[in-house]
Amino acid sequence: MSIQDANAGNAGDLLKHAILLELLGGIPGGEVWSYAETHAGAGLYARAHAAELLAAADSAAEGETGWRYATALAAGMRRADAGDLYVGSALLALLSGSIRGDALLVEFDPEVVTRLREGVDHVLASAAPRVRLAQGSFEDHLTEILAPQRLVLLADPYYYDSSAPDGQGGRMGKVHLQRIAGHLRGRDAVLLAFTSRAPRRPLRDAVPHPEETWRPLFADLDALAPSALRLFRVDGTPHALAAAGWGAGEQRVAGLPTAREWQASWIAKPPVGVRIVEEQRVAAERTES
Ligand SMILES: C[S@@+](CC[C@H](N)C(=O)[O-])C[C@H]1O[C@@H](n2cnc3c(N)ncnc32)[C@H](O)[C@@H]1O
Repeated sequence: MSIQDANAGNAGDLLKHAILLELLGGIPGGEVWSYAETHAGAGLYARAHAAELLAAADSAAEGETGWRYATALAAGMRRADAGDLYVGSALLALLSGSIRGDALLVEFDPEVVTRLREGVDHVLASAAPRVRLAQGSFEDHLTEILAPQRLVLLADPYYYDSSAPDGQGGRMGKVHLQRIAGHLRGRDAVLLAFTSRAPRRPLRDAVPHPEETWRPLFADLDALAPSALRLFRVDGTPHALAAAGWGAGEQRVAGLPTAREWQASWIAKPPVGVRIVEEQRVAAERTES
């Protein structure tokens, strides 16, 4: 089992995918939005205790917070046949039925692209022709990623490092956020940006590496002044997801459920038990310090 498979469906994935699906559910049926991912992954992943997760998703009540995620996840797991596979972001987003435009999925690893192609063809069936896959580093594809007039963009690097000059090792930096925000300003768009812990460095490394890579992500996004900005975290873990909206994307971000609503959802209950919290005050903390 690869590292990606071993991590699939962890608390970070649940946070990312639950909020992604909630956001997509807020897109009015008559509007044509496109979808893109910078780090698309394999589409389907082996996951331990998948049956338990599927049963938990099936227990979600229609209309409750997180129900859209539960529905897409259960549909994807069943379509993937084996029942022991977790469904990644790209397939979940397209299973939501909310994306009526095209999709562009960028992935660096050629073997992972092959897996993703198989997953798209198998799980999405008739929607598969609207999905374009591009192999390479996300930074080399940003112009095409950012081209649509109405866009939901999932940026899912392993971690955010404000000073990173490139996408090496899957990281993302301020230089990329600036390019993304520069293009999305004046359009109808949402950027969901995930970050987790940076890889541990040897102790002799003089540069301290912060565990919480969400603080600089939130501060840098705040400085780029999207019309709406929120940040959700999984309590007690390094996983976080920022949602930034421009134009009509502002309403989509403002309409996301609150932490209190997430805490009443199936995701917070056993056996899943993921506690989603929301950060409000990074900008104020930054100016005070
Ligand atoms: C965490 S996985 C993606 C998971 C997926 N978005 C999901 O939520 O289901 C990160 C992926 O980024 C890919 N990757 C690493 N560096 C990259 C880069 N510079 N550009 C694009 N993809 C990259 C890795 O090969 C890996 O498949």
